[in-house]
Amino acid sequence: MGDGARSGGRRSGTGHVKIARMGKQVISPGGIIDGVVELPGDKSISHRYAIVAALAEGRSEIGNYASAADCQSTLECLRRLGVEIEKSDRTVRITGAGLNGWKEPRKPLDAENSGSTMRMLAGALAGQPFTSTLTGDESLRRRPMRRVIEPLRQMGAEIRAKDDRAPIEIHGGPLHAIDYTPPIPSAQVKSAVLLAGLFGDGPTTVRESVCTRDHTEVALREFGARIDGTKNAIRIHPRPKLVAQQLVVPGDLSAAVFLISAALVLPESSLMLHNVGLNPTRARVLDFLISLGAAVRVASLQMRHGELVGDVSVRHAPLAGGEVSGTQVAEMIDELPMLAALGPFTEKGIEIHDAKELRVKESDRIATMAAGLRAMGARVEEFEDGMRVEGRSAGKLRGAKVDPQGDHRIAMALAVAALGAEGDTTIRDAECAAVSFPEFFVTLDKLRGAAKA
Ligand code: S3P
Repeated sequence: MGDGARSGGRRSGTGHVKIARMGKQVISPGGIIDGVVELPGDKSISHRYAIVAALAEGRSEIGNYASAADCQSTLECLRRLGVEIEKSDRTVRITGAGLNGWKEPRKPLDAENSGSTMRMLAGALAGQPFTSTLTGDESLRRRPMRRVIEPLRQMGAEIRAKDDRAPIEIHGGPLHAIDYTPPIPSAQVKSAVLLAGLFGDGPTTVRESVCTRDHTEVALREFGARIDGTKNAIRIHPRPKLVAQQLVVPGDLSAAVFLISAALVLPESSLMLHNVGLNPTRARVLDFLISLGAAVRVASLQMRHGELVGDVSVRHAPLAGGEVSGTQVAEMIDELPMLAALGPFTEKGIEIHDAKELRVKESDRIATMAAGLRAMGARVEEFEDGMRVEGRSAGKLRGAKVDPQGDHRIAMALAVAALGAEGDTTIRDAECAAVSFPEFFVTLDKLRGAAKA
């Protein structure tokens, strides 16, 4: 967002963020969120535009490309595959050489912390006539990759990976079309199979019981791919001619949720977010917040490159509490840490079930959130597949030293909870927030009306 946050008329006077040494952040509680924000580009959409543009013919221009470190990892991997990429400020220009225009990389491709980069690139690399290796940081090398290895092997790619973890060595080539139902709902797995389907010997179908985010389907269509089927059975036809596009990435709703939540934690707050991505496969979290009692409104809706975009406003309101389970989990998977951290600010608390998947994200998000919130005095019950965070009756949170375990969404969720605690909270290695939202702490600071840290 850079300078996108404008502080509103009211000044908080109290709260501010101090940037300390060693990547710590000290969050002082209080203040009022008041202002207008233009968010950085959506992380999920940016990955997809970059990968599809790199497979297209000609020079694409992508405006408001995500500032998220994960999306820079995708660009770096594509560069290593010989793709020409120029970047100035938030605009990225990518010159693709067609479906098989990538070159065999001399070194492993490093996805760093980004599961989306690794899993989606694995799909596109499975169709390339060369060998490539995908690796990542310590957290990514611990995460399960069988979910993409399995269908790509079924399509004929030869893949080596010890214990189904990265590094993954992919010997690509022409692929067979498959009809695949991922055992767990996952947009990354769906995307990997659809991207591999570009190189199939017939139409490839991915079936899903819950409609996970559909940005890959939307992006591929924008670039000229033929995708049909139904909402729950997406079919891609192979070997399309993908043509370069000029696109603008909508603001990242998953990042917005941290600021919206900050406004819900701090009384008298009011916030306006412009140009936010509101794709229905992502926006369920707003319905959930409204069901808790949040005063959230959307306006100025428009379609841009197949993606719904609009303005979102929120005003502080008391929250009732509620439960997330079943299909809601996949629909709000990235928002669950923040929703859990809202628990102590609700009347009845927040309960999450059917979310075992959280245990294999950038950290074990159930254990990490439970530890962080407990350190702040919250009453938390941990389940194998979720957690219950007691509401206001369990008492006010108190400032503490918390460790997000290098997990960006946990660092931001705990920072928001810290706004409503008594006393300062110190967040260890808080710079990990840059994985998805590098401007988070500065924006929070500006919105609370304090001097820029
Ligand atoms: C993403 C899909 C989700 C999500 C991740 C981004 C994507 O992962 O948690 O942050 O861009 O497709 P899964 O596909 O593993 O659920």
